[in-house]
Amino acid sequence: MKRPSEIAPPGGKLGVLLPGMGAVATTTIAGVMLARRGLAEPIGSLTQNATIRLGKRTENRSPLVRDFVPLAGLDSLVFGGWDIFPENAYEAAKHAKVLEDRHLDPIKAELGAIAPMKGAFYPEYVKRLNGTHVKTGANKAAMVEQLRDDIRGFMKREGCERAVAVWCGSTESYAPPGAVHETVATFEKGLAEGDPGITNSQLYAWACLQERVPFANGAPNLAVDFPAAQELARKHSVAIAGKDFKTGQTLMKTIVAPGLKARMLGIEGWFSTNILGNRDGEVLEDPGSFKSKEVSKLGVLDYVLQPQMYPKLYGNLFHMVRINYYPPRGDAKEGWDNIDLFGWLGYPMQIKIDFLCRDSILAAPIVLDLALFLDLAQRSRMHGIQEWLSFYFKSPMAAPTLYPEHDLFIQLMKLKNTLRWLRGEEAITHLGHEYYD
Ligand SMILES: NC(=O)c1ccc[n+]([C@@H]2O[C@H](COP(=O)([O-])OP(=O)(O)OC[C@H]3O[C@@H](n4cnc5c(N)ncnc54)[C@H](O)[C@@H]3O)[C@@H](O)[C@H]2O)c1
Repeated sequence: MKRPSEIAPPGGKLGVLLPGMGAVATTTIAGVMLARRGLAEPIGSLTQNATIRLGKRTENRSPLVRDFVPLAGLDSLVFGGWDIFPENAYEAAKHAKVLEDRHLDPIKAELGAIAPMKGAFYPEYVKRLNGTHVKTGANKAAMVEQLRDDIRGFMKREGCERAVAVWCGSTESYAPPGAVHETVATFEKGLAEGDPGITNSQLYAWACLQERVPFANGAPNLAVDFPAAQELARKHSVAIAGKDFKTGQTLMKTIVAPGLKARMLGIEGWFSTNILGNRDGEVLEDPGSFKSKEVSKLGVLDYVLQPQMYPKLYGNLFHMVRINYYPPRGDAKEGWDNIDLFGWLGYPMQIKIDFLCRDSILAAPIVLDLALFLDLAQRSRMHGIQEWLSFYFKSPMAAPTLYPEHDLFIQLMKLKNTLRWLRGEEAITHLGHEYYD
C-alpha cells in the first residue's frame, strides 16, 4: 500500500452509528458526553491519553497521539444507532446499570434525546431476545434499503459530514461463512432470496458499506468478516475492522501469554471461566451465541503460543473457556484464569488470575478509539481490512493468506508504526545500536 500523500482534515460533524444501543454503546456515549463537559476522564482510550514517540530516544519528541494525527475531536461527535427495544439512551443506560446516577444525571437530557432507530431483526440469530422495536420488510434486501435510508436520514438530520459505525449489538449464533458470503453477487442474490445464512449484523454491515460508512465489529459474529463484504469494502473504498472487542479475560490472556512465551516457559493447561450478569451474559447462555464467543476466545492462545513451532512447550496445551450467566454481578464480570505452566526440567508451577472487571467500562474506550481511527483511515484513503486496529480485537481480521497477530505488544507497535508511517515519520524498530557508536 502506498503512503497517502495527504490526510483530509476532520472538519464538520462525525456521525457515530451504533447498531445495538445496550450497555457498551450507552456507556460509550455517556462517557464522551461527560468527557467533553469536563465531568469525567476518558480513561482507557488510547486516542485520548496515549503519547507516541517519534525519532530517536534523545530527541524527546513524544506528542499526544491526538495531536500527532488529525483525529475528529470529541466535540464533533454525534451519536445515533438502532435497537430492537425502544428505550432511549438514558433509559437503556439506567437499565444496563453500568453507570451511577452521579454520572447519568448531569447528561440526562442529552442522553435521553438519543432514541434508537428501529432494528433489522430476525430472531433466529439471537435466541434470547424478543425485540419489539423492529422493522418490517418484504425481504432482507428491503431491510438493507431501510437501513441505508436510516443512515442518510440521520446524517442529514444531524448535519454530519461523515459517519462511522461500530457494531455493539448482541452476539449472534455461530454461523460459519457459506457460499452466499463468497462474492458481492452471491450475497446480493442471497439478500433478495432471504438466504438464512445472512444474519442481522450482516444487513447493517452491508448497508454501511453501500453508504461508504466504515464499519467495525465489536461482537464475535461475522458481521463484516466474509469475502463478499471485503470485496464490497474494496470496491467502495471503505475501511473495515473486527472482530470482538478485546476487553477482560482475553485482554489479560494476550498480556500474560506473550510474556510466558517470551521466557520460553511451557504451558500445559489454561482454564478460563467467567461469571457475568448483564444482557450480554444472558444472550451468551444460548449455546449458539456462546459458540461464537468460544471460537473467538479459543483462537488467541494458539496464535500467540504457536504450538506447531514449539511442540514441547505448547503442543499438549489444554485450553478451556467457560462463561456463566450469574445475574447478581450485572456488568461487573469476574474472570478467573488458572494457568498450569512448567519450567526448567519440566517442574510444574501455577498462576491464578482473578480479574474483577467491568465489561462495558473496558469496552467503551475501544468503541471511541475505533470510531476515531476508522474515520482517520477513511480520510487517509486506507480501505478494506485495517489490520493495524487488531489491538482492539479478540479475533482480529487479517488478509486471507495471513494468520492474525494476537500479541498485544506487537499489535500496539503495529498501530503506532502505522500512525508514524501515515505522517511520514520513521517506524521505530527498537534496534538502537547508534546510541553506542
Ligand atoms: N463489554 C465487553 O467487554 C464486550 C467485549 C467483547 C464483545 N462485546 C460484545 O459487544 C456487544 C454488546 O455488548 P453489551 O454488553 O452492550 O450487550 P447488550 O445486550 O447490553 O447490548 C446489545 C444490544 O443490541 C441490541 N440488539 C440485538 N440485536 C439487534 C439488532 N439486530 N439490531 C439492533 N439492535 C440489536 C439488543 O437489544 C441490546 O440492546 C455484544 O455482542 C458483546 O458480546 C462486549
